[in-house]
Amino acid sequence: MSIRYDEANRIFELDTRNTSYRIGIVDEEGFVGHIYYGQKIRPQKCDQFLRTCEAPFVPSKNNRERCSFMDTFPTEYSGNGIGDYRESCIAVKTANGSRTVDLKFVDYDIVNGKPGISGLPASFAGEEEVQTLVVHMMDGGCGIDVDLIYSVFEDEDVITRSVSVKNAGDRNIRLTKVYSACIDMDDEDFEMLTLHGSWARERQIERRPIAYGKQSVSSLRGESSHQDHPFMAWMTKGTDQTTGDVYGMHFVYSGNFIAQIEKSQFDSIRAVMGIHSEGFEWWLTPGETFTAPEVVLTYSHDGLGQMTRNLHDFYRCHMIRSRYLHQKRPVLINNWEATYFDFDTDKLLAIAKSAAEHGIEMLVMDDGWFGHRNDDATSLGDWFVNENKIKGGLKHLVDEVNKLGLKFGIWMEPEMISPDSELYRKHPDWAFAVPERTATLSRNQYVLDLSRKEVRDYVCECVHNVISSANIEYVKWDMNRQLTDIGSVEFTGDRQGELAHRYVLGVYELQERLVNDFPDLLLENCSGGGARFDPGMLYYSPQIWCSDDTDAIERLSIQEGTELIYPLSTMGAHVSDCPNHTVGRSTPFMTRAHVALAGTFGYELDITKISEEERAMIPEQVSMYHKYNDLVREGDYYRVASYRENGLYDCWMVVAKDKSEALVTYVQVLGRPNVHSRKIKLLGLDVAADYRLDGTEKVYGGDLLMNAGMLIETMRGDYMSRLYHFVLDNSLTCLLYTSPSPRDPKT
Ligand code: DGJ
Repeated sequence: MSIRYDEANRIFELDTRNTSYRIGIVDEEGFVGHIYYGQKIRPQKCDQFLRTCEAPFVPSKNNRERCSFMDTFPTEYSGNGIGDYRESCIAVKTANGSRTVDLKFVDYDIVNGKPGISGLPASFAGEEEVQTLVVHMMDGGCGIDVDLIYSVFEDEDVITRSVSVKNAGDRNIRLTKVYSACIDMDDEDFEMLTLHGSWARERQIERRPIAYGKQSVSSLRGESSHQDHPFMAWMTKGTDQTTGDVYGMHFVYSGNFIAQIEKSQFDSIRAVMGIHSEGFEWWLTPGETFTAPEVVLTYSHDGLGQMTRNLHDFYRCHMIRSRYLHQKRPVLINNWEATYFDFDTDKLLAIAKSAAEHGIEMLVMDDGWFGHRNDDATSLGDWFVNENKIKGGLKHLVDEVNKLGLKFGIWMEPEMISPDSELYRKHPDWAFAVPERTATLSRNQYVLDLSRKEVRDYVCECVHNVISSANIEYVKWDMNRQLTDIGSVEFTGDRQGELAHRYVLGVYELQERLVNDFPDLLLENCSGGGARFDPGMLYYSPQIWCSDDTDAIERLSIQEGTELIYPLSTMGAHVSDCPNHTVGRSTPFMTRAHVALAGTFGYELDITKISEEERAMIPEQVSMYHKYNDLVREGDYYRVASYRENGLYDCWMVVAKDKSEALVTYVQVLGRPNVHSRKIKLLGLDVAADYRLDGTEKVYGGDLLMNAGMLIETMRGDYMSRLYHFVLDNSLTCLLYTSPSPRDPKT
């Protein structure tokens, strides 16, 4: 049992394998307070941390200072406008114009299993695996019932949270803010870690001290975004990969969000996460319910590395549904960087032929095959093949590719519409636009109004027709602009604030229909690179294109930030041509492959045009993928060194769950003169086991590799890399324990 209610002390006890979370009810008043989250503790009375016996005391004992009480009480979910001046989690607008919310405890339920959230991605688990606590609260004043929902994933040290709000009154109300989670705790001189970026520079790790006031990351772009990421961690100062207390909070949502930490006058912090309230409104008629997306919480006492592994295991076991999760994905070649829009059947078949000869397993035809699209100015929405380029049609092309022994995949951007398209000429009102305003173009395109059922049905039909027209086994679902001018003719003026969220619900509905109708389809999500790499999208696709920057060195920090919270099996990574198209850098072909092997692996180049020498390396790289991918996909990830921090080299490793093998990837970014070999201390091995460096007779103890380290020979040149594969080998143990010890009395 992972959830207990201590009736005597009125404490909810939530326990995972290594962590505890404690919630207290303040009896007479019905406040629901946060007592503790951290390393596992035994069940016991611990409500002193609510500090209700200290001044200003609870309102029933000191009503004169109710306001001070509200402003200090560590709450599980803050109300609005009633004395707690820290960030509120919920706001409503009632018929009389009031915005205050004052929530009180009513009751609770503990159920087995993990309930889904209708219309939204959410973690899942069996009834035996997980328990869920629902804390029922209400505010009779504004007529709402609020449920705080906690599910406890014991094995992964994860607790998920979400919130549902029901209109329990008899008049319409308007929600103007509903966050998904809030945690109050004393500040322990925490630092905050967040992920930032831009197009081609996604998920760069940033750490900063927590200062008084509010510090947040957010998106108002209609998607989770290149710029900020729906994740934050806070941790004790000096936390590194193996030591320090770390709290991670991650949002299972793909639209506008806020993640914020606020430090109060009393040196407590409040961490909140949810749909961004700017521009958000949601009408509830009597009896209707709104459920906010899920937040994933994890705590690690052993530094960032353990937080990473908790999240990796959690997403692999409880979020990604695709049947490809535990399978090697086909090694693909994508024609985007090979041809951009300039391709036809002959060019694609020439690429496919050479790809097949070199062991590649799938051709993906990217943007430019439909309507009359030869650049990014036209045809989005016209999902019929451009027969001038794809001569003989799509089925012919796919059949020919299949005959070469390759699978076939296709690119689509279903959420968009070009002003120059048959679709727009027929249905100009299907694009988001604000009345009497010209909508803002971005990459020459508008966004379809997915809040409308007829638009969703059209998109669904187009995608389904394309996939059914030939043997298409993979779809790359792209989204190349962010939202502006969010206006719909479908909804009345006072409901336009619902559109940003309705758009995200529309995307989810479309992808749900797609994966249900084509369960064998391998779906990869993408958004101008990695702008919609979030746990919400992982519910539909087992992999997401990580970034349009395929340069091996730029990828080091992009992938480091991505791997910090996402399993390697989810990370789209390809070998591309040099000089690299985004940064102009040239790196060795093998280094590009070593870096891409950390993800789904594939090629993004014209194989017919690269040098003979590079082409000849492809079969070896493909066989490395086949040799290591089971380990990379399923193993435990350890970050050994970061180029971002040291400016010279990068190193990560993956260790099999049973510790029987490990793959170390080392990248020497900058060569240096007159240096010795570099000592690297490995992580995560079995100290009692012996490991042989694959391909050699060298055997080392796990204890030696982790405590003394291994020596990485100096490589001559910049951007050089090596893989080191260690496999269990008991010859060292045999040697040590079979050779007679000098102190053995029998000798
Ligand atoms: C953005 C993607 O990230 C690229 O890989 C490519 O598919 C282009 N869009 C095509 O427009």
